[in-house]
Amino acid sequence: MASIPKPAVSPSVDGLGGKILGWVDDRFPLSALYKEHLSEYYAPKNFNLWYYFGSLALLILVMQIVTGIFLTMNYKPDAKFAFASVEYIMRDVSWGWLIRYMHSTGASMFFLVVYLHMMRGLMYGSYRKPRELLWIFGCMIYLALMAEAFFGYLLPWGQMSYWGAQVIINLFGAIPFIGEDLAVWIRGDYNIGDATLNRFFAFHVIAIPMVLLGLVAAHLVALHEVGSNNPDGIEIKQNIDPVDGKPVDGIPFHPYYTVKDLVGLVVFLAVFTAIIFFAPEMGGYFLEGPNFVPADPLVTPAHIAPVWYFTPFYAMLRAVPSMFGSQFPGVAVMGGATLILFTLPWLDRGKVRSVRYRGPIYKGFLTAFIASFLVLGYLGVVPTTVWGQLPKNVPLLGGVDTATLVSRILTVVYFSFFILMPWYTKIDKEKPEPTRVTY
Ligand code: HEM
Repeated sequence: MASIPKPAVSPSVDGLGGKILGWVDDRFPLSALYKEHLSEYYAPKNFNLWYYFGSLALLILVMQIVTGIFLTMNYKPDAKFAFASVEYIMRDVSWGWLIRYMHSTGASMFFLVVYLHMMRGLMYGSYRKPRELLWIFGCMIYLALMAEAFFGYLLPWGQMSYWGAQVIINLFGAIPFIGEDLAVWIRGDYNIGDATLNRFFAFHVIAIPMVLLGLVAAHLVALHEVGSNNPDGIEIKQNIDPVDGKPVDGIPFHPYYTVKDLVGLVVFLAVFTAIIFFAPEMGGYFLEGPNFVPADPLVTPAHIAPVWYFTPFYAMLRAVPSMFGSQFPGVAVMGGATLILFTLPWLDRGKVRSVRYRGPIYKGFLTAFIASFLVLGYLGVVPTTVWGQLPKNVPLLGGVDTATLVSRILTVVYFSFFILMPWYTKIDKEKPEPTRVTY
């Protein structure tokens, strides 16, 4: 295996720069932090394409906050003016259209990048010991991100903003006993109105972003405490160079991975700007058609669907039949589908971490899980009538929409991946892990 030269760390800074740095270091551990987290933070040398998405998620987080600040300068959180203020930003504010499209495209790209980031975690078993807390912080980030997107979507006060929020808030109404009161409490009114818009604005621009920043900081502290996993799923800390005491399969994060991440950043920005300039609505997937019509409490849109990143869960909600006229079972399944992610570190009994050395059963379940998520995502966008109805004479199921039946089956597949994991990871025929990382 080719050995990669390790650069001299903490280059001495001479002259005035050195004096200033010395002055700062006596008062704040700047050089020590730089060494600990960049120039002497050893990361596995076999990172691949899947390791771009963490730094890209960070980039998007910063971009959303910066573009959000500029949008807030011209947006009016008032049910009378909100829609018009967004139009004003798009038409009259200098570069307002760019800022708004960066923010709306950024939201979708955030989810895309985070989904790929989570998928990497699944594939390489990055949630396994000792990275359980890193994973849990990640799951909390994911929940916060969903809340952030939900609150933000009401702000343009378009038809889909209004009716989407209506559907979701009404779901809380399905919770037994406290539901109705809870829904009124969330709305601040008996109907979605100005009070709702104001509180959603407060949550979207300050409360949730602060939670997100705190969680991301905790995520990174946890990452640097235990060190990164890698595509082979083996611990690089188990092979320490006896001479310099560093992991033989590790390379300093800076300059090696700062440069690698820059390549990811350039490719990402190329895709991102292409979307902004050529397809900012992405055929109605990033910005939905009905949202170009101002919110009207008296006119329900023909087909209410959330933005694509929520649709797998929305499909599950629609698939679960209501019980005694209550939608609560669907709500519980939808909530359970996100919360079950937290339990992953304790469900996996495999001896190896990475999919590279897993057996066929795990690979089958992982593939089925990913496929179920994607197809549910599709079924959540389209009306349930998309594939027609099952023939009337099918026992028990006659009269059900085919798409509903498929959604039900896929919801079972989604949950089986988790619930059966302790069993299938234990009996699977795994391959031996290598002792050193491979390329
Ligand atoms: C705002 C969103 C997020 C940001 C900014 C973020 C940032 C990062 C960064 C910079 C890394 C190190 C680089 C890398 O491994 O790609 C990382 C690693 C990791 N993240 Fe995240 N993350 C986010 C969301 C999530 C979510 C939602 C999960 C899972 C539910 C998650 C789970 C992980 C795991 C398990 C690792 C370690 C991966 C490994 O070492 O193989 N992250 N994250």
